[in-house]
Amino acid sequence: MKRTRIALASLCIGLAALAVQGAAVAQSEPYKVFDTRPVITEGPYLSALSDTAVSVMWMTDAPSHAKVRLSDGDTVREIEPQVDGLVPVGQRHVVTITGLAPGKRYSYEAIATRVVKLKPYWPDKGLSTSSPTAAFTTFNPQQGKVSFSVVTDTHEDTARIGRLMKMVDWGNTDALLHLGDAFHWLDSEEQLWAKWLRPTIAAMGPGKPLLFARGNHELRGAFARQLAGYVPTPEGSYYYARAMGPVHLLVLDTAEDKPDDTNVYAQLNRTVPYREDELAWLRAQVGANKHFASAPFRVVAMHQGDWGWLPDNGAAWAALANQAGVDLVIAGHDHAFSYQPPDQVHAYHRLVLGQDQLARVDATERTLTVKVLTDKGATVHTLTIPSRR
Ligand SMILES: [Fe+2]
Repeated sequence: MKRTRIALASLCIGLAALAVQGAAVAQSEPYKVFDTRPVITEGPYLSALSDTAVSVMWMTDAPSHAKVRLSDGDTVREIEPQVDGLVPVGQRHVVTITGLAPGKRYSYEAIATRVVKLKPYWPDKGLSTSSPTAAFTTFNPQQGKVSFSVVTDTHEDTARIGRLMKMVDWGNTDALLHLGDAFHWLDSEEQLWAKWLRPTIAAMGPGKPLLFARGNHELRGAFARQLAGYVPTPEGSYYYARAMGPVHLLVLDTAEDKPDDTNVYAQLNRTVPYREDELAWLRAQVGANKHFASAPFRVVAMHQGDWGWLPDNGAAWAALANQAGVDLVIAGHDHAFSYQPPDQVHAYHRLVLGQDQLARVDATERTLTVKVLTDKGATVHTLTIPSRR
């Protein structure tokens, strides 16, 4: 007993001495743990939620490693990423959660643990910070209705983003869909947060997902190659499909608006093989996906309503959409509203959303409605499409 007291006393003296030096060491770990915690500076937010997966993204002020603690109400599990066998250490954190149950409510905390110095052996660690608990519900292919809100071409105008985000009925929207050109071009991480994600996430919160379709301007600039790390998807791709009850949503990447050999790109673009891969993926989706086959509505969301620059001017894509029974293409890029009903060439409705407009898409098994509003709340257009199936 006496020996224990002496040991405790000397430990206390030791800790006090370390605290004076600003370097308290936790006695519970076999490596050095400094008394320092990371600060969560951005997020967390949910990117590209599906019926079974989601990517959680956030930032810290100092190098840390990250995990998500997830609860379904009964069980708690922790998801910790690894890349090539190593836990990522940095200030940008992405944790992709898979194996979720469709239509289920989950709560989560984003946790970051400071890494003070990455030495080969005995790296110096710090303490952990946890975000407040937030909740989300996965999409359900079987759900009877779905609602989502759409904006586009916000082009770094944070006042515009603020006006549009205020108009979203967050309590009754399942997702925010951004159709691209959030930027003029991409220069830096701070620009990415300041001109788009920060004001967007401030309105959206940690429980609603962002679905993002890349615009042509997002292929430009020194930071364009890093964008995917801030709008991550469980698939690891800018194009993906979502089974959202009555809607099968195909989010496509229409890439650039000019040929790869245009001088302004200086031979740094290779969108032709990229789009070929995307088209092959789309063919597989429409050919084999059960929800696509049975969904009352098939909706394509993409930046450029004419499929973007393609060697065949998009003929193969339009033919595939016709053959697949796509009901609606919703796009941006033009900075002005337009609507065209199905015609001889396009068997689907084409709606282009303007720059200062919000579209609210509501779908049941019988009807899909798109209501387009100005940023002052005036109705621009209401489109109602009955199910063909
Ligand atoms: Fe554009």
